[in-house]
Amino acid sequence: MNIAVVGAGYVGLVTSACFAELGNQVICIDNDEVKIKALKRLKIPIYEPGLEELVKRNYKNGRLSFTTNIVDAVRKSLVIFIAVGTPPKENGEADLTGIEHVACSIAKAMTSYHLVVEKSTVPVETGHWVKHTIEINKKKSVSFDVASNPEFLREGQALKDFMHPDRIVIGVESKKAENILKELYSGINAPILVTDIKSAELIKHASNSFLALKISFINAVSRICDLSGADIERVALGLGMDARVGRTFLDAGIGFGGFCLPKDLDAFITIASKLGYSFDLLKEVKKINELQRRDFIQKIESHLWNIKNKTIGVLGLAFKPDTDDMRFAPSIEIVNTLEGLGAHVKVYDPQSMTKARKIFRNVKFCSDAYTVAKGSDCLVILTEWNEFKELDLKRMKKLLRQPLVIDGRNIYLPEKMKELGFKYISVGRK
Ligand code: UGA
Repeated sequence: MNIAVVGAGYVGLVTSACFAELGNQVICIDNDEVKIKALKRLKIPIYEPGLEELVKRNYKNGRLSFTTNIVDAVRKSLVIFIAVGTPPKENGEADLTGIEHVACSIAKAMTSYHLVVEKSTVPVETGHWVKHTIEINKKKSVSFDVASNPEFLREGQALKDFMHPDRIVIGVESKKAENILKELYSGINAPILVTDIKSAELIKHASNSFLALKISFINAVSRICDLSGADIERVALGLGMDARVGRTFLDAGIGFGGFCLPKDLDAFITIASKLGYSFDLLKEVKKINELQRRDFIQKIESHLWNIKNKTIGVLGLAFKPDTDDMRFAPSIEIVNTLEGLGAHVKVYDPQSMTKARKIFRNVKFCSDAYTVAKGSDCLVILTEWNEFKELDLKRMKKLLRQPLVIDGRNIYLPEKMKELGFKYISVGRK
């Protein structure tokens, strides 16, 4: 099938490469000329395991191409996915001007039937506005359909999530659109849920908000564990063994970050309020997430006594492992607060150093975890990279000024750390 994907960000690039891998002819479009030029030289702007190889293979075999020319791409494609950003506005609402602009450009380029599919995360009723925008900008004789096909890709596991999803959701208004999307996904072995467009849009917001709710719930329970002496890992295990709850997304830590969960939560709260419902449950989810970070900073403070002039070694900056993404990473608030309190901060992350250099101006960037530990008054863990789980802890202990580890991701066993002679503080565990 001939496909166009508008937007060469995380979602657009993964979607393009995966559809090409499934045997389709894909044109990926972005208005950022520098990005498109780099992609043509096979320079991938993001770190996503397996993506570079997939892009290279499909670019070389001619199934994947990159362009800034939306008119040409639209005319060559039956299905057009909109995968441009929907960044948050000051009030938490999603900024949909990018979607409107793309819908308008698609409409003006159309000369025959096209199926226009929302892939970006958008508030309920966006499909209606996309349809309206195309309607008023297209040539009269041209027919089209709009559909919603939300993505459920996790950064760091995006290719796996695309090829082996739990479900594929398609929101449509016509049998023709349904059949095209079903054919497009026929190479993927997963249940397809066909629904109306509004429900499909809502499924995406509800999914991300529910995941955020699970994380905030377990983080709140971790506070009770800290206060009572119970162990959050055991509680999460016991809770998760109930199939109705499930163990996934019950890892306590420093709260959720990234470009999706925080932004989608805000957008869902805002759209609910606009529709006339005050989603207080989700407001509390957000509050718990903010408190979790503050509580972690307090733990550092209480174990270092005065933060001023102390050297704090930070391992991990990305909002989660296997990505270089720093957007809304919990590390930003934590590192900035520590610096604000007068600490000297040394940092290392396996993938996000380039992006982190643009965010942190005064921290000392180190080449590895051991350099971070050297001479530090404490080690703080903010991202659970495997590399950190496999460190030579005896060596780390010798390098630290005092054997203090404050772990925001619970990556070590408290008994083992005690045995090695560390003062080890984690989340919801003694
Ligand atoms: C999330 C969803 O998981 C995807 O299904 C969705 O498609 C995507 O947003 C999106 O809307 O595009 P992602 O943001 O890549 O994916 O990352 P997650 O794996 O969901 O992690 C989000 C944050 O929650 C991270 O900061 C992570 O450290 C934190 N987290 C996750 C926890 O603190 N505890 C957990 O148990 C799980």
